[in-house]
Amino acid sequence: VTNDPRPATRNPQPATFESHLRTILGDAHVITDPDLKASYETDWTRRFSGSARAVVRPADAKQVAAVVRACAAEGIPIVPQGGNTGLVGGSIPRGGEVVLSLARLGAAEPVDTMAAQITIEAGVTVASLQNLARDAGLMYGVDLASRDSATVGGTIATNAGGLRVLRYGATRAQVIGIQAVLPNGEIIERMSGLTKDNTGYDLAGLLTGSEGTLGIVTRARLKLWNPPVARATALVALDSLSEAISLLGRVRGLASLDAIEAFFNDGMQLVCDHTGAPRPFPGVSGCYLVIECAAQSDPAEELASLLDGSPEVKAAAFATERPQREALWRYREAHTEAIGAAGVPHKLDVTLPLARMVEFEATVRAAVESATPGARAILFGHLGDGNLHVNVLGPADDDERADDAVLRLVASLGGSISAEHGIGVAKAPWLHLTRSPADIAAMRAIKAALDPQGIMNPGVIFGAQ
Ligand code: FAD
Ligand code: MLT
Ligand code: ZN
Repeated sequence: VTNDPRPATRNPQPATFESHLRTILGDAHVITDPDLKASYETDWTRRFSGSARAVVRPADAKQVAAVVRACAAEGIPIVPQGGNTGLVGGSIPRGGEVVLSLARLGAAEPVDTMAAQITIEAGVTVASLQNLARDAGLMYGVDLASRDSATVGGTIATNAGGLRVLRYGATRAQVIGIQAVLPNGEIIERMSGLTKDNTGYDLAGLLTGSEGTLGIVTRARLKLWNPPVARATALVALDSLSEAISLLGRVRGLASLDAIEAFFNDGMQLVCDHTGAPRPFPGVSGCYLVIECAAQSDPAEELASLLDGSPEVKAAAFATERPQREALWRYREAHTEAIGAAGVPHKLDVTLPLARMVEFEATVRAAVESATPGARAILFGHLGDGNLHVNVLGPADDDERADDAVLRLVASLGGSISAEHGIGVAKAPWLHLTRSPADIAAMRAIKAALDPQGIMNPGVIFGAQ
């Protein structure tokens, strides 16, 4: 006997959790077929994979909230996923979670040119965001080689850095407001676009860089910039990282400096082998830089004359037109795919104080080889930010001896174990090296307050409970 006036056949009680999800999203957007789930279950590096209970593809924030409430009711964990280009294993399941893909949240409002802001959904790729800004005569400040797949939501969740942090800041510096679904299914939203609004805790700032552990970003209000009129790019060969840092000291004096990126001969060789690009200069150099300047008037002359007068520079190639500039950038940007083609890397994204960087570079390769005989470390990164990417090739996926050696070396030199990729699951065991017990306790308290059941991306940042 029931008081419910609705006929049972018109509103059947969902028989299972999955059928409840299908009621919310429709059959096509609840994926349980192993073949169809597969691409959501392995990360970009191929080092991390796991099996999802289901992959769901909501269309908007309301559907995201309904899925989160359904998972919370059953205590089923959720892994938010954007473009799945993350490099610390945080976007794929560890086993039995619901993977919640934001791919269908792909809308954007017209650019607000007066405020130089855009309101855009989480699933839009960074490249599409850049194009929308460009079409409106503006630019987005974050750029990274994964731009065609990485999403607005994923880059906010990781506080992605990229190639132009020294001028425009990382993603956090672009976020004016967000809409997000909390682990209890509540939607929070502060999207008015007010750049000054000191009314209590900055929840958008807290969710930025939270790696999907505190909530799901569904929409964001982002800052845009006036674009430069002209760009000039140089690829420079030098003897060593120490010479590169000495040159950095001078190049920093250019108001037009937009990017300064470093790599070494082993990476240059891998990129040339992988892409078929010719070696840019005769012979071999210890270190290479891509330096880009951008301004309202052509910065080529000031960059060229600075490099001409710099004794560290062994050779340099210049470009001002887009195709030639892109060809120079390719030597730097193709590192990730060239290394990935050579093996499954352990990716260690670290920052060092600039004053300790040469010491780090001089010792880290030997530290890797002695931790795991036969392993080798390829280094490259964002020199202007003190951020080196140490990519270790050779160890088995679960052999973490080289990771341990590198991250302890970083900590001993006063650096951080993550500059821009985040902690994910890959670096969770080492969080304590560069965050204090009081820091970690405060972060855990925030996590427990917002996600008392621990359903939002468990294992990420804090490791397995
Ligand atoms: P995903 O990989 O899907 O997810 C990343 C993390 O964010 C996961 O923990 C996931 O759970 C969470 N997440 C995703 N979407 C949401 C959401 N909407 N709400 C809440 N949590 C969410 N990174 C840099 O910082 N700088 C670089 O220069 C850079 N270059 C790269 C180049 C290449 C070729 C590749 C493959 C990767 C690069 N990355 C770089 C790493 C990666 O692109 C960034 O971490 C990016 O921010 C991930 O975005 P995504 O949409 O792919 O997120
Ligand atoms: C980069 O700077 O190219 C990225 O952070 C990607 C990587 O570390 O491989
Ligand atoms: Zn990077």
